[in-house]
Amino acid sequence: MYSREASAPRRRDARCLRVTTTPTAGAETRRCLVIGSPIRHSRSPLIHRLFAEQFGIALRYEKREVAPGTLGSALREFMAEGILGVNVTVPLKEEAYGLATVATERAELAGAANVLSFDAAGQVLADNTDGIGLVADLRSHGFPLAGARVLLLGAGGAVRGVVPALLAGGAAALTIANRTRDKADALCARFAPLGRVDSAALGDSFTEAFDLIINGTSLGVTSGSELAVSAGAVGVETACYDLVYGAAETPFLRWARESGARRRVDGLGMLVEQAAAAFERWHGLRPATAAVIAALRARG
Ligand code: ATR
Repeated sequence: MYSREASAPRRRDARCLRVTTTPTAGAETRRCLVIGSPIRHSRSPLIHRLFAEQFGIALRYEKREVAPGTLGSALREFMAEGILGVNVTVPLKEEAYGLATVATERAELAGAANVLSFDAAGQVLADNTDGIGLVADLRSHGFPLAGARVLLLGAGGAVRGVVPALLAGGAAALTIANRTRDKADALCARFAPLGRVDSAALGDSFTEAFDLIINGTSLGVTSGSELAVSAGAVGVETACYDLVYGAAETPFLRWARESGARRRVDGLGMLVEQAAAAFERWHGLRPATAAVIAALRARG
């Protein structure tokens, strides 16, 4: 059903024209942004600067605070300023998708965009590179995906963005467990056409350990409280991945460690991988990621 190339843009209304956003490296300074609220701690400017240095591209990449509900007028200003592309983070991803005139299939599936591109005709292209960023990082850590039973914690925008890529990457079955069960049920219905997806409440008990558990709750971002997940879900060989990242151990990864899971990784690699896919869309060049991830880790 969703066999088209996921990164190819498709029209969302009759006004849409073709989007052309793959210039080759040149001497002029290109301008890109990352937007969100709050945005002060974003590492995207550093990541994109390190990518640009790989190709000798002159890039000015800045952070801008944009309040929810004001993105429409902000986008018009960005276009007038000659901005090439925008990375979108919490809480603007759904709003960004809603304002775009063209969207890739993977952005449509997620109903959210983390990358916007502008063309000369004033069209706004929405893409979502979170899912492919996660899958690339899982692979780089040797975490199982083909044939895997995966437990996804949370049912917000972060989870919606990664479900299609996990199924496309070969996961055999996904269980979406959320504190508010209704939201897990809704995501389950949304993604049922793509593969085997079940829903659960966060506190449900599981009797068989999953191959992979991914934390997509905002725990560790918005609060420091504990995660109440059934001990039966996790075993020594269960790979545990947190979409959240930080210098300190996240609440989810602490839970994973205390539950005996040997393989535990935070979302820093995913952040760099989704940025690499955005960079490629804007500049037509694929940056190397391993050295950039190592540089960010070294900075703490
Ligand atoms: P995002 O876009 O980052 O996913 P979101 O849409 O606000 O943010 O979703 C946050 C997710 O984290 C939700 O699944 C939320 O659960 P509810 O739907 O029940 O609100 C989950 N979450 C936040 N704090 C949590 C906590 N302390 N324990 C468990 N889940 C939590």
